[in-house]
Amino acid sequence: MKKNKEEYSYHLPVLLQESIEGLNIKPDGVYVDLTYGGGGHSQKILEGLNENGKLFAFDQDLDAQNNVLADNRLCFIKQNFKHIQRFLKLYKVLEVDGILADLGVSSHQFDTPQRGFSIRYDGPLDMRMDNTGPTTAQSIVNHYTEQELADVFYNYGEINYARKLASAIKQQRSVAKIRTINDLKSLVTPLIYGNKQKGLAQIFQALRIEVNAELDALKLMLPQTAQVLKPQGRLVVISYHSLEDRLAKNYIKSGTLSGIPDKDLYGRFSKPLKAVNKKVIRPSEHEIELNPRARSARMRIAEKS
Ligand SMILES: C[S@@+](CC[C@H](N)C(=O)[O-])C[C@H]1O[C@@H](n2cnc3c(N)ncnc32)[C@H](O)[C@@H]1O
Repeated sequence: MKKNKEEYSYHLPVLLQESIEGLNIKPDGVYVDLTYGGGGHSQKILEGLNENGKLFAFDQDLDAQNNVLADNRLCFIKQNFKHIQRFLKLYKVLEVDGILADLGVSSHQFDTPQRGFSIRYDGPLDMRMDNTGPTTAQSIVNHYTEQELADVFYNYGEINYARKLASAIKQQRSVAKIRTINDLKSLVTPLIYGNKQKGLAQIFQALRIEVNAELDALKLMLPQTAQVLKPQGRLVVISYHSLEDRLAKNYIKSGTLSGIPDKDLYGRFSKPLKAVNKKVIRPSEHEIELNPRARSARMRIAEKS
């Protein structure tokens, strides 16, 4: 059943139809949604399953767990997806027919000021997807060394004035602790070259990636997907920035995260997945018009060889 935009109050799913088609759902299959969020993709997967089908959904956010659909074919696992194989094993699942990962944060997380993700509101400098996690954006800006801060801004925000930002943060925190979004915004905005909104978005993205160790989780998760997929099983990855998309692309194309193919003991290249689409899939103009947050989405579909 097709839902209206207004019915997705938690998060409007991106590339919904295209990702479900990419999964090529078998009605009695076993599927995994690694990023449940508001459950928009999960609900569509369930619509494709019969009473023998099964869906395991991961999310590390308590708010996602509190929002889980009541459906006896759905099993929610409140864990980081970097543990996919371990938790599936716990449920005696060794092989699955398809896996979906819709990376990043949900609109619910963005639009809740206390979560500290958005530059649109003031709030605590938090940015944890797992609200029980040990590291917040506040602890990073107040305790990382100047070099560590510069690395975060350079590596995860692709900001070329990263050193200048790090030095200003170090200087400011020696006077007063940086506690809120507005504290950070008023400190860094004058240092941004060019478009201030874009610069702030890059700075916040970098901190968010560090707080949640997002790329580390993705690097651990991708090789496990190849291990748990059945032959002809499908992997669908939707990413929202080039650092994530590059990892997904490398893994699908070469079987390694670096993009440099590895040879096995016999000198053969081992590549567990093959790309279903040659080119990355992007949302249509129509979808972007309805949902501007879909703008940066890139989807890759792969099949287990
Ligand atoms: C873009 S939203 C997914 C939205 C979902 N597809 C929907 O239709 O509502 C991403 C979700 O994945 C979760 N998430 C991101 N990285 C995660 C990770 N490493 N482990 C578990 N959950 C993660 C976030 O907490 C967030 O709820």
